[in-house]
Amino acid sequence: MGGDHDFSRRGVIGAGVAGMAVSGIGLSDDGEAQASLPATTATMSVSLTVNGRPRTLDIDPRTSLLDALREHLKLTGSKKGCDHGQCGACTVLVEGRRINSCLSLAVMHDGEAVTTIEGLGRPGTLHPMQAAFVKHDAFQCGYCTPGQICSAVGMLGEIEAGVPSHVAADLSAKPGVTVDELRERMSGNLCRCGAYSNIVEAMAEIAGSRA
Ligand code: FES
Ligand code: FES
Repeated sequence: MGGDHDFSRRGVIGAGVAGMAVSGIGLSDDGEAQASLPATTATMSVSLTVNGRPRTLDIDPRTSLLDALREHLKLTGSKKGCDHGQCGACTVLVEGRRINSCLSLAVMHDGEAVTTIEGLGRPGTLHPMQAAFVKHDAFQCGYCTPGQICSAVGMLGEIEAGVPSHVAADLSAKPGVTVDELRERMSGNLCRCGAYSNIVEAMAEIAGSRA
């Protein structure tokens, strides 16, 4: 284009990259846009009990619980799949309830107890849900698995507490543990490998043994 304005492709791309730098969005080696927090000197102290162990962190108050666990406490079992609350790979238990840790700020949980996949069980002393996943071959690549297992444990706690689901026919009745119930209640945990039928088998075994 002519005139007083430089609307060449090179000019537009250059301006875009400069703008991304100012806004804290960078490019990875493969050219994908990545968000990063601009540097700040303000930190906040947050005390958590993580897998039974008291931990205190001085962190940027914008740090997600997932990043606090993975980057600050080096508990990398919880996975970052989407960082947008869409996949469930980051699911952990907070005060016994399952949450997407990518959607929650660590400072919101000051004084609370967090359980990650590392705290559910260890090799040799697996949590029954972990053992059931192994027994039923309920994973392939394993990337979604820590979130699936934490979510499944939290989900069975919700059934025990009488929390209804979207497929419950009678909201006042004690929830059942049908396959439809299990699938609906786990619909926030995606598996790109498609191991769903085996995941349901593993959960049904544990749910059945507790029913
Ligand atoms: Fe949290 Fe996907 S990483 S929901
Ligand atoms: Fe690969 Fe679920 S086992 S994404």
